[in-house]
Parts: sequence; C-alpha cells; structure tokens
Amino acid sequence: MIDKLDNDLGKILREAWNLLKNGCKDRNSAFRCPTISTINVDGHPTSRTLVLRHVDSQHRMLRFHTDRRSPKYTELIQNPNLSCLFYNAPKKIQIRLQCYATIHINNTIARKAWDQSTRMSRICYTINSSPGTPVQKPPPAPAPGEQEIIKSFSNFCVIIAKIKKIEWLYLCSAGHQRAVFEWTRNSSYWASWLTP
Ligand SMILES: Cc1cc2nc3c(=O)[nH]c(=O)nc-3n(C[C@H](O)[C@H](O)[C@H](O)COP(=O)(O)O)c2cc1C
Repeated sequence: MIDKLDNDLGKILREAWNLLKNGCKDRNSAFRCPTISTINVDGHPTSRTLVLRHVDSQHRMLRFHTDRRSPKYTELIQNPNLSCLFYNAPKKIQIRLQCYATIHINNTIARKAWDQSTRMSRICYTINSSPGTPVQKPPPAPAPGEQEIIKSFSNFCVIIAKIKKIEWLYLCSAGHQRAVFEWTRNSSYWASWLTP
C-alpha cells in the first residue's frame, strides 16, 4: 500500500479522497463543481463545469450527470479520455485527475441516479431541442408535467469516470508540494513526489 511506501504520500492520498468526497456532499465546497475536459471531434480539448455527484474511493470512480443529446456525450463515445480539474483556493490545493469514462443510459445505473435526483434536476432533461442548439432568444424555464418528466429519463446520462491518475499540488510558502499517484490496468500503482 501507499502508506507502506511513504507515509507522507499516503497522507496526501487520503486527504485528496477526503476533499473529493466532501465535494459531492457539501454544496459550498470548492470541489463541488470541477472543470471537466474532453476531446471534441476536431481533436480540440473542450472544458465545462459539472456537478460532482458521487465519489467511490474504493473503486476510484466519480459520477457525473448530463444530457445524452449534449456534445460531451458524443465526444466521450468517440474518445472516453476525460480530465477533471479541482481547485480549492482557501486551502491552495489543486487536484488534477486523468480518467476513463463509461456512459450509462437507460440501465440500472442511470435509473438509480435518476431516482436519487431532485425534481428540479430532472426537469432539465425535458427540453425539446438538444443542448447547444442555436435559438433566437433564451427560452423560458421549462414547466413540464409529470409525464414529460418521466419520459425525459431517456435523455438522462450518467458518466462514470474511472480514475487512472491523481496529481496533487499544494501551494505553500515553505515550498510547493506536488505528488502523483498512478494506477495501471491491473490496479497496481506507483506514487511519487514531483518537482512543483
Ligand atoms: C455550476 C455549474 C454546474 C453545472 N453542472 C452541470 C451538470 O451537472 N451537468 C451538465 O450536463 N451540465 C452542467 N453545467 C453546464 C455545463 O457546464 C455545460 O455548459 C453544458 O453541460 C454543455 O456542455 P457541452 O456543450 O460541453 O456538452 C453546469 C454549469 C455550471 C456553471
């Protein structure tokens, strides 16, 4: 285990998981809304903010929700590599994750996440046109009936991001601290300090 390799690195990894877990529990956490980057069809990186919905440290997985009609869905189908960037300004801690995404629509994972979502969140999936479609003016907020909300489950998409690499950076006047934790396919890993 990492603790056996280097006690300080083990502490940092635990702190990273605690910050991530707190991000999906605490609405006011700086880690609540990370920047998620994908590669678009032209090979260009594209970034956007997503709410962090769940963190599973045992399986090294994060969960996000989106609309299957959005560009990021197509991007992830074509290229499942995903990057997540978190920054906690008061703590001066940045966490950068390299992940591999799997997409879940109309399956038990999507159903469970949908059932746990608020009505307010579900309403977003009732819009008629795909997110990003040009319109003449900003549309009013949707006010769907219950049947429309139920039907919109088919637009709901869960992104599960499996973490391959965690990079930690702590800005400190006594010396910045940067560390990396990387896992291979068979879940063995290496951890190291890096030059900041
Ligand atoms: C604070 C905040 C939270 C957001 N959370 C989500 C979210 O959980 N899921 C989502 O699909 N879009 C969310 N968005 C909107 C996305 O940032 C983005 O504009 C939208 O999903 C379209 O992305 P795409 O065109 O890259 O697919 C959020 C935006 C902000 C500002």
